[in-house]
Amino acid sequence: MDAPWTGWVVDGGGVIERSYPQRDVTESRVRPRALAQSLFAPLPRRYDALAFVLSLGQDRRWRRAMVDMVKPAKPGIVLDVASGPGAVTRELRRRGVPRVVALDVSEAMLRRGVANAAHDNAFEQVKFVVGGAEQLPFADGAFDALTFTYLLRYVSDPAAVLRELGRVVRPGGVMASLEFAVPPRAWWHLWWVGYTRLVLPVAAALTGGRAWWRAGRFLGPSISAHYDRYSLAWTLDAWRAAGFREVTVRRMSLGGGVVMSGVRES
Ligand SMILES: C[S@@+](CC[C@H](N)C(=O)[O-])C[C@H]1O[C@@H](n2cnc3c(N)ncnc32)[C@H](O)[C@@H]1O
Repeated sequence: MDAPWTGWVVDGGGVIERSYPQRDVTESRVRPRALAQSLFAPLPRRYDALAFVLSLGQDRRWRRAMVDMVKPAKPGIVLDVASGPGAVTRELRRRGVPRVVALDVSEAMLRRGVANAAHDNAFEQVKFVVGGAEQLPFADGAFDALTFTYLLRYVSDPAAVLRELGRVVRPGGVMASLEFAVPPRAWWHLWWVGYTRLVLPVAAALTGGRAWWRAGRFLGPSISAHYDRYSLAWTLDAWRAAGFREVTVRRMSLGGGVVMSGVRES
């Protein structure tokens, strides 16, 4: 399965692909996800540490649970979408996945991933692609597995994005995701609203400054608004409509996170 590795542009210390020739990706280049780009551009340097603190130490456990879902398929090559600074990419590597392609719409976030790969001496195994999930620059069925993290709130058409992600997973391959979610139980939901609306923005501002205040204030309302429009049941159906069977949903930490996975139909 060598196709995604051909025609890449090597850029300085890392590998940032801008002109993968296999597929026309004009739209995702011309209309990048402006909000995601502006929101994440100032965050990469301290993203992993602060994400850990601000999720009350849960995010690493959630990522491991997601990678657990793809590991049994023994994938040779995995596409990690919305890779950011590469926490999932690194977890995939730690768990023995031989090759990972890390894709993100924010070059600033991805460059942090490049630095992390340099630190891990992993340039042979990890490649980086600046691009949008809406229009992936890869051939159909190019990957044995695909992971995506905290992505669906940033796209305007989640069903179409799920179809596009499913397109690049080979038949029988696995897709797994991690997203924030709204806790279903009333008392925990109340606590969660208080935490995301009050504690989180203030803690973010105190530890990370103005950019983190903006991200901290954005997060809670963004999660609520997303699930008002796209319930978990809707998301489950969208996975199936995108060509996945055996779709599983696992709520994490009383429902503050959700890990999903499915197997690509033949
Ligand atoms: C919260 S970060 C997640 C980073 C990392 N995967 C993790 O586990 O922490 C979400 C990432 O999604 C990226 N993103 C948002 N919209 C995107 C899109 N349409 N296509 C690709 N990446 C996108 C952002 O740039 C950001 O780096």
